[in-house]
Amino acid sequence: MADLTCNFAGIKSPNPFWLASGPPTNTAYQIRNAFDVGWGGAVWKTLTEDPIVNVASRYGGISLNNQKLMGLNNIELITDRPLEDNLREMAEVKKKYPNHAVIASVMVESTREAWHSIIKRIQDVGVDGFELNFGCPHGMSERGMGAAVGQVPEYAEMICQWAKEVSKVPVLAKLTPNVTNIREIGRAVKRGGADGISLINTINSVMGVDVNNFNPKPNVGGFGSHGGYCGPAVKPIALHMVSQIATDPEIGLPISGIGGIRKWDDVVEFILLGASTLQVCTAVMHRGFGVVKAMTRGLETWLDQKGFEHVSDAVGLASGRIKTWGDLDLNYKVQAEINESTCIHCGICYACCEDGCYQAIDWEKMPRDKYVQTFGQPRQLKGEAAPNLKLDAGGGTIDVFKVNLEACVGCNMCALACPVDGCITMKEIPTGKPAMNWNQYQTMLKEGKITKIAPKKAARSIQ
Ligand SMILES: Cc1cc2nc3c(=O)[nH]c(=O)nc-3n(C[C@H](O)[C@H](O)[C@H](O)COP(=O)(O)O)c2cc1C
Repeated sequence: MADLTCNFAGIKSPNPFWLASGPPTNTAYQIRNAFDVGWGGAVWKTLTEDPIVNVASRYGGISLNNQKLMGLNNIELITDRPLEDNLREMAEVKKKYPNHAVIASVMVESTREAWHSIIKRIQDVGVDGFELNFGCPHGMSERGMGAAVGQVPEYAEMICQWAKEVSKVPVLAKLTPNVTNIREIGRAVKRGGADGISLINTINSVMGVDVNNFNPKPNVGGFGSHGGYCGPAVKPIALHMVSQIATDPEIGLPISGIGGIRKWDDVVEFILLGASTLQVCTAVMHRGFGVVKAMTRGLETWLDQKGFEHVSDAVGLASGRIKTWGDLDLNYKVQAEINESTCIHCGICYACCEDGCYQAIDWEKMPRDKYVQTFGQPRQLKGEAAPNLKLDAGGGTIDVFKVNLEACVGCNMCALACPVDGCITMKEIPTGKPAMNWNQYQTMLKEGKITKIAPKKAARSIQ
C-alpha cells in the first residue's frame, strides 16, 4: 500500500488531506472529530486580534439539475470567536494529535507590530505552521486585509517578511484567485520568504437575485454583498492557478491545492498538476467529514495501480503537459464518431453542432424498417431532446445523426453535450503530417519553407 504521509515545507501530516480554513475548522470539537475520521491536517478558521461580527444569512448555493451545491458563495468573514478560546483549543488539539498538522490561518491589519504580535501569540500554543490569509475577497478586503493584500505583490511580499521575522514554524501564503496574473503574487511571496503556497481562496461573485422579490442571494434583510465563490464549479480555475504556480521557474515552492475538491480523482488531478497537499472546505460543509474516506481509498488505490510508493512520486507529473497555445501541434486531428447502437436520437448533438458550432452533423429521417434492418431496434429517447427539432418520437421514421467528416473540426462539443456516456467519442485521425506547432509554423513561414495553411471554408453557407 502506498505511503500517504507527507512533509509539506516542514509541516508533517499522516496524509495530504487537510481541512481548508473555514466553518469546518471553527472549533476544536470539529477538528478532533475530523482527525478521528481520517483528515491529516486542519487549517484553523482565520484568526485575528478582535473577533469580527457576522451577518445572517451568509451562504448562497447554485444547483444544476440534481447536483446540489455545484457552487457555493459566502459573505462570511473570519473567526467570530475570541482569540483566547481558539488558542486554548488549538493547544488541546495539538496535545491530543501530536502527529496531525494544525495550521493557524491569520489575518490582521497591515502593520509590522500587528503581525509580529499575533504570530508570537499563536506560535506559543505549538501550531505546526501559519497560513497567511491573503485571499478573503469580501468584508475583510474592504478593511485593507485579505484579497486587498493578495492583489498587490508588494504588500504580499512585505507581510510574508513580517511573519517570517518572528515565526519559528513554516509560513504558507494563501493566495486569492481575484488577480490578473497569479505568478506575480507567487513570486512576491517567494521573495517575502514564504515556505509554501496555498491556493485558491474564493472567487469574487454575486450569487443571484430572487426574481420575485429582488432580494440578492444570500439575503441580509433585502440586501446582499459580493462574496466568495467556491465548490466544484471553481475547480478548473484552481487547477489553472496551481499549474501556473507549479511551472513558474522563479517560484519553486510546495503547493497546497484548494478549490472544488470533492472526489479522489479531483485530488489526483491537483497532485498531477503540482499540489502536494490538498485542502477541502465546501465538500465537507456539504457532506461532512466522512468524504475523506473515499478520497483516501481512491488515492491509495490509484497510487498502487500506477506503481507509486509515495504521494510525492506523483506531484507535478502532468505539469509539463499544460503548454502555451503556441506549442500545441496544429497537425494533430480528431473527429467525432457517433455509436449508432447507443444513440437515443435526441438530436442534441445536431442542435449544438448545427446552431452553436461548425455544422458538421447531418440529420436524416430514416424509415423505421430500413433503420431496423441496418442497425437493429432503435433505443428509446430518455430525458430531454433538443428543443425546436421536429423529432419523430415513436413515429414511422427514425432520426439518424451522422458526422460529416469533411466538415468536422474535432472541437469536442457534441461529445460533451451528448447525454449518453460514450455514445460520441473523438477518434484520432492520422494526417501523415509531422507535428508542427504555431511557433514552428511562423518560423517556417518566415523562412519560406512552407506555404500558408488554407483557411477553413464554412460547411454550410447562404446561397
Ligand atoms: C463559508 C466559508 C468560509 C470561509 N472562511 C475562510 C476563512 O476564514 N479563511 C480562509 O482562508 N478561507 C476561508 N474560506 C475559503 C476556503 O478555505 C477555500 O479556500 C475555498 O472555499 C475553496 O475551497 P472549496 O472549493 O473546497 O470550498 C471560506 C470558505 C467558505 C465557503
